[in-house]
Amino acid sequence: MHDKVFSCTICGLTPKIIEVETDIQNGLPSFSVVGLGDASVQESKERVRSALKNSKAQFPPLRKTVNLAPANMRKSGPAFDLPIAVSILAASGQIPKEKLQESLFIGELALNGVLRKVRGILPTVICARDNGFKKVYLPASNADEGALVEGIEIIPASNLRALIDHFYKNNLRPHKYFSTICAQRDSIYDFKFIKGLEREKRILEMAAAGKHHVLMHGPPGSGKTLLARTFQTILPDLDKQESMEVTSIYSVAGLLPERVPLVRSAPFREIHPSATEKAILGGGSVNLSPGEITLAHKGVVFFDELSEFPVSLIESLRKPLEDETITIQRTANKTVLPADFIFIGAMNPCSCGFYGDTEKACKCTMAQITRHQKKLSGPFLDRIDIFVPMQRIKFEEVLKRRDSESSESIRVRIAKARKLQIERQGKVNSKLFGSELRKYCVLDRDSKELLKEATYKLHISTRGVIKIVKIARTIADAENAKDIRVEHVAEAIQYRILSLH
Ligand SMILES: Nc1ncnc2c1ncn2[C@@H]1O[C@H](COP(=O)(O)OP(=O)(O)OP(=O)(O)O)[C@@H](O)[C@H]1O
Ligand SMILES: [Mg+2]
Repeated sequence: MHDKVFSCTICGLTPKIIEVETDIQNGLPSFSVVGLGDASVQESKERVRSALKNSKAQFPPLRKTVNLAPANMRKSGPAFDLPIAVSILAASGQIPKEKLQESLFIGELALNGVLRKVRGILPTVICARDNGFKKVYLPASNADEGALVEGIEIIPASNLRALIDHFYKNNLRPHKYFSTICAQRDSIYDFKFIKGLEREKRILEMAAAGKHHVLMHGPPGSGKTLLARTFQTILPDLDKQESMEVTSIYSVAGLLPERVPLVRSAPFREIHPSATEKAILGGGSVNLSPGEITLAHKGVVFFDELSEFPVSLIESLRKPLEDETITIQRTANKTVLPADFIFIGAMNPCSCGFYGDTEKACKCTMAQITRHQKKLSGPFLDRIDIFVPMQRIKFEEVLKRRDSESSESIRVRIAKARKLQIERQGKVNSKLFGSELRKYCVLDRDSKELLKEATYKLHISTRGVIKIVKIARTIADAENAKDIRVEHVAEAIQYRILSLH
């Protein structure tokens, strides 16, 4: 007796279809699972045995072999419990085989037969649909997430017995989910509570509008951390495609919050210098887990106290800052994970924090200052779009009672500027490349002259010049100007001046 059903596993963030074959032969009762499953897959045997018995199904007292194909791909996790159980039921004639066609099964079994939530449902269901499957059977607690995908039926079951009955009575209904969830916004942070710092707020608005990378530097207490954390409140919601991508990542990482099947707001990940390289970049010898920069995909990654991070880690950010991906090299293979984020860094200009301060004297020696600042290499800094020198605000400003402009109204402006960019060129300004720059960022004679002069005087690199042009485009878009004018370029040049060194 032989039968097979289909399931799915996630390699890195990529789902792969798996065939779960069961062969039942006469002989001494035994149960083996082959096909490069790790310890968690081997444990399936115990769960499947108990779940079948506790679901009033028969666990055939014969020689049972389950093969997970293709056998050269590593498999892990408890999500094969359900397909293994179903393929045993089919091979032993306990459920009609014809009902299993064009269906994919995924789910963890409790010993009593209850189906438990598993990770990575969204990418699994997308993969099932794209591979021509018509139905996905999954745990009821994963139903909302699965039903986000259009063009495939989601059949949720709360336990194995209910699923077995369904194959005879057809009583489980396809699940429909209509998302009404809006992005959750953290009310503690709002630009209206930040006093003064109008220039800095404008710079951050431009950074959000064109998705430009930012480095803030200045003395302690000047509001760097506060501004960065508040930055998330001015980001527009994700569009549908972005939402699906981010939700897939969080689903695979097992980080989807309860009752939130779809991530709608742009992620914001704050990273501290104590975080390990694996936690930040992703990795893992057996199971690959996405790092913070992948969890920040389509959102923001905030490196507070940037100069406290190991130099090697800062250097590893160079590739994702430009390519929007991170490549994780492991012994046998390499995996590419998405990492398209806005980078925000914050740091003090020296160890005591007051180098360049207008009021307080710096206590560091020149050697200490150089050592502190050398942690950020030239190539790394060249990849940053905008530098924001910060100063503490005046005492009178601190006590001002009047609120500034709210995050909400800034967010509306940013959404408009982004829409303009997408409609004109299909992408945000920071992603413009090659011929697109010539087409969409035309400079008049005055602008070219100004840029040329600045390039020579400030020793700006070619990459820097391109960045200035892109930022100027964003500044023009923010005021709905069709053409880039010299004042836009002048403002963009200001943003590129790094007064650290
Ligand atoms: N412009 C401001 N408006 C309102 N509060 C502010 C402002 N600037 C700073 N603060 C207050 O001062 C505190 C310190 O600011 P913050 O932590 O952002 O400073 P920082 O620049 O990150 O300092 P450090 O370099 O020590 O990390 C904040 O918690 C905030 O309450
Ligand atoms: Mg800080």
